[in-house]
Amino acid sequence: MSYAYDPQQARTAVLAYSGGLDTSVAVRWLIEEMSLEVVAVAVDVGQGGDWDALRARALAAGATRCVVVDARDELASEYAFASLRANALYEQKYPLVSALSRPLISKHLVAQARLHGARAVAHGCTGKGNDQVRFEVSVRALAPDLEMISPARVWGMTREQSIEYAKRHGVPLDAKKSSGGDIYSIDQNLWGRAIECGVLEDPWERPPDDVYELTVQAATEPCEIVISFEEGVPVALDDRALSPREMIEEVSRIVGSYGWGRLDMVENRRVGIKSREVYECPGSLALIMAHSDLESLTLERDLAHEKARLEPRWAELVYDGLWFSPLKEALDSFMISSQRYVSGDVKLVCEPGRCYVAGRRSPVALYDWELATYDAADSFRHSDAEGFVRLWGLGVETWAARQARRGSGGESASDVG
Ligand code: ARG
Repeated sequence: MSYAYDPQQARTAVLAYSGGLDTSVAVRWLIEEMSLEVVAVAVDVGQGGDWDALRARALAAGATRCVVVDARDELASEYAFASLRANALYEQKYPLVSALSRPLISKHLVAQARLHGARAVAHGCTGKGNDQVRFEVSVRALAPDLEMISPARVWGMTREQSIEYAKRHGVPLDAKKSSGGDIYSIDQNLWGRAIECGVLEDPWERPPDDVYELTVQAATEPCEIVISFEEGVPVALDDRALSPREMIEEVSRIVGSYGWGRLDMVENRRVGIKSREVYECPGSLALIMAHSDLESLTLERDLAHEKARLEPRWAELVYDGLWFSPLKEALDSFMISSQRYVSGDVKLVCEPGRCYVAGRRSPVALYDWELATYDAADSFRHSDAEGFVRLWGLGVETWAARQARRGSGGESASDVG
């Protein structure tokens, strides 16, 4: 008789666990309704929180085990900085906060599923959002043999019913969150913070002040910061070498303290719903602004223009859950190659409510002062311009001359040809 691992026999599911009501109810639901054992996996992507309390809650809900994985450095260097290379903004605004963490969390879910010989991976997303798409497409890309379970999509409970279910099964509730005091749905990581639900569901309603945490203005004195890049990667802040994670945390903290980095937008979800989203992204928006500015100094024109065409595509793929896809991989190769000379410094000025680029320099700049200047040191060969401009306009000139002849009545359209 063989004891080889048989996924059909395995009784374990790995659940993406956040510590909130829905994923706590999901633990119990997988046990009760599907007779599975649950390994709760929480991935630290910089959302903050009390990990001991989270562990206790997972176990109290019935999980056999609760694993907390610190993936902050990985999120920063492999996901956020890849996004930075592509200056990725979905619909030209949103720096992909949640869209970046889901493939990373999926990767860790699959790793834990292997470790525990699990048969299935589960998540707590509803059927209306993008995150279900990202989890499921990512997990399938990495482990096509694993079953995907999405309890919240199956059970169809309202929030009240979830609370009722939790009480009935002795699932502990976070008092603040289940009392109705927690009206917003929040998703946060190093790259920013997304806020949905409550009054924000009316796109005309101004976001109340209490939705903001990372962009509350406290600093009043303007400041300058210098971000140094090497091949597209920010490596030092005011000459201080920082790890990718430290860089994002520091820039977020500084820029956020000036009350800058907010977005309020209506966004097209992959599932066809328009939704009103409020974001706080001080670090990611400041880094993207600095990085793309340095590119304006260091990228050759055709490369810059082609890159600008591919950037929205990269953002859209990642938004749509296709992080692990051949096109995204190919575009990454392009993005990496484009960054060879994106090295240098960018100066940002922070003032209450504002953050902007106020200078850039690079040892490999394509900006050539002797070519650009209008003063005596000018090295540009003005005589070259004459022939260039004439040939550049030759086609238009020929066309215009013909129009003029036709206008004077000398030819009919059928004579032309
Ligand atoms: N709309 C954003 C996105 O799709 C934010 C999603 C936030 N997720 C959440 N579970 N609250 O990326």
